Amino acid sequence: MADQTAADRAADLRRELQKHNYHYYVLDAPIVSDAEYDLLFRELVELEAAHPELRSPDSPTHRVGGEPAEGFQRVSHPAPVLSLANAFGREGAESWFDRIRKLDERVESSAWVVEPKLDGLTVVLHYEAGLFTLGATRGDGSIGEDITANLRTVGSLPLRIPVAGNKIEAPPRLVVRGEAFIPVAEFAEMNRKLAEAGERTYVNPRNTASGALRQLDPSLTAARPIRLLCYGILDGDGDLPRTQWETLAYLRKLGFPVPAEAQHCADLEEALSVAESLEARRDALPFEVDGAVIKLDDLALADSLGVVGKDPRGALAYKFPAQEVATRLEDIATNVGRTGVITPYAVLEPVQVGGVTVRQATLHNFDFVAEKDIRIGDRVLVKRAGDVIPYVIGPVKEVRTGAEREYHPPDRCPSCDEPLERQGEEVALYCVNLSCPAQLVRVLEHFAGRSAMDIEGLGIKIAEQLVESGLVRDVADLYGLQADSLLELEGFAERKAEKLIRSIADSRARPLERLLIALGIPGVGEALAADLARHFRDLDELQDASTEGLEQIEGVGPILANEIAQWFSKKGNLALLEKLRAADVWPVSELRAPTEPQSLTGLTFVITGTLPGLNRAEAKAYIEARGGRVVGGVSKRTNYVVAGESPGSKLERAQTLGIKILDESGLRQMADGQ
Ligand code: IVH
Repeated sequence: MADQTAADRAADLRRELQKHNYHYYVLDAPIVSDAEYDLLFRELVELEAAHPELRSPDSPTHRVGGEPAEGFQRVSHPAPVLSLANAFGREGAESWFDRIRKLDERVESSAWVVEPKLDGLTVVLHYEAGLFTLGATRGDGSIGEDITANLRTVGSLPLRIPVAGNKIEAPPRLVVRGEAFIPVAEFAEMNRKLAEAGERTYVNPRNTASGALRQLDPSLTAARPIRLLCYGILDGDGDLPRTQWETLAYLRKLGFPVPAEAQHCADLEEALSVAESLEARRDALPFEVDGAVIKLDDLALADSLGVVGKDPRGALAYKFPAQEVATRLEDIATNVGRTGVITPYAVLEPVQVGGVTVRQATLHNFDFVAEKDIRIGDRVLVKRAGDVIPYVIGPVKEVRTGAEREYHPPDRCPSCDEPLERQGEEVALYCVNLSCPAQLVRVLEHFAGRSAMDIEGLGIKIAEQLVESGLVRDVADLYGLQADSLLELEGFAERKAEKLIRSIADSRARPLERLLIALGIPGVGEALAADLARHFRDLDELQDASTEGLEQIEGVGPILANEIAQWFSKKGNLALLEKLRAADVWPVSELRAPTEPQSLTGLTFVITGTLPGLNRAEAKAYIEARGGRVVGGVSKRTNYVVAGESPGSKLERAQTLGIKILDESGLRQMADGQ
């Protein structure tokens, strides 16, 4: 009878897990948290361990990860791409240790390596005679998909090993295992840019990375900030490392990125404390982790312990508590961005996630709310990872009571009440009122930001006060602020007011590229701002540039050139530029590369007499612009004398010293070849 119950339970668990797998992998909309899933999974693993006769070929315990998708070639892995058994907390890890110690007493005195367990997509990388020849997904562990073309776009993947300059020989054949992922900060930045451009944002780094690597068009992969970290050798020829610690060192030396957080530990106690310290630091890590991996250092010993299902006995995933929880969605509110884009966010019943109370979470965009059918009053799954803003994964529809309310996007701006608009094909709604206070606050915040004008002390709170009080109606108004008027604002004493005025004044000295970022011209980020400042002397020159002129700059295509030109043609922007000029915020580029060929560099000239086409000042400027130097008197160090009509004694002196003499056309010939 007991076995009958176990069989029923196993069947239930399998069905349940299959359903969750489908929601997670196929629909990208999990209905339970990772922790709840793991709980069910573990129960099934234990049940099958106690009742081996219950194991069925369709059990999810045999199949971890996705099946090879159509459209990619299938690749047989040279060795099984194994998974890891999970343990929660110290006790789980200690009982694993006890089990394997009983199998081989050498475990007792073995060393360990602890690594972060990266939450990404496993990749298998093949190298033949040092060349990257094939890259595959894990698939079902024995057959994966050939995603070589996509992996080639990943910057940190070595296309040839060893990396130049390292004194080490590549083995004839090497198959490396690693994890591809999108770092949390890059993910947040990518989403911020997409949202600002009114485009669809991505839900989480893991699925974005996995989706990008499984695109049929590699240029789509290239557009995502995918990183790679390698941690193992799946197969290979030659004299390969015998311990995990040496493997990491060896991979690093060949040029593979390896996890910098990996540590060598003398015993299990140390390994556990390293795992715990990784857990404590998880929010500070640049990538999402869902645990630490504890590995036996001695690879032959680890191998000899064998495998249970797909999990090698010699390594363990020490799982951290999930950073996902379910809570009630109390309301959906909206934010107004710098460009007027309106984005929805969730107002949540406060909930603890990984030691932090979460009250709000992003809902990406209105289409996301509609597609996931998120309703006010729903129980929603919320995830927090790293320092990025928590986000809503989706609703738990199974627990709806019927009292939930459908949500409709607003049709007026929550700040200025003007009607909202859609722009072209974009998914986002915009407030197009140029004097919308909420937008102005964001504009000020951006203008004063670190990578822009870097105005210390001008954060969002003060930006709000300045806008609300009417003291600032555009960014140029900042430069006319008086300490007296600031004193009227709450929280401003003399010192604080003077300090702010001083940091605003100091910002006049920021170079042109910073002002270009600060102005928020569409598409102009740090790299392009620097390129523009290399090409143009000041905002006047940039404003006068034609779209063709802009397209001369690397990375500027017709669309971007057009956007920049459009920005400089708008009346409101031109008026703002004039106000900035009047306020003496008009930097001259320090980065500008010389526009003339530097054909006269290192040469010294003396000018005498009247030249036909250039007056004295113009002739001097002409020579200097091409790198030459103009001096008053002829000496042995003079290289050329440029002589016009009625030259003075300088010409004679030059002739006696044997210095070459040029007329204006000779000078032009030499300088510009004309
Ligand atoms: S070792 C036999 N090390 O975690 C070795 N795996 O749940 C098995 N993962 O599919 C893997 N970081 O993709 C290992 N430092 C790390 C890892 C790691 C992430 C992933 C791996 C695997 C999953 C197992």
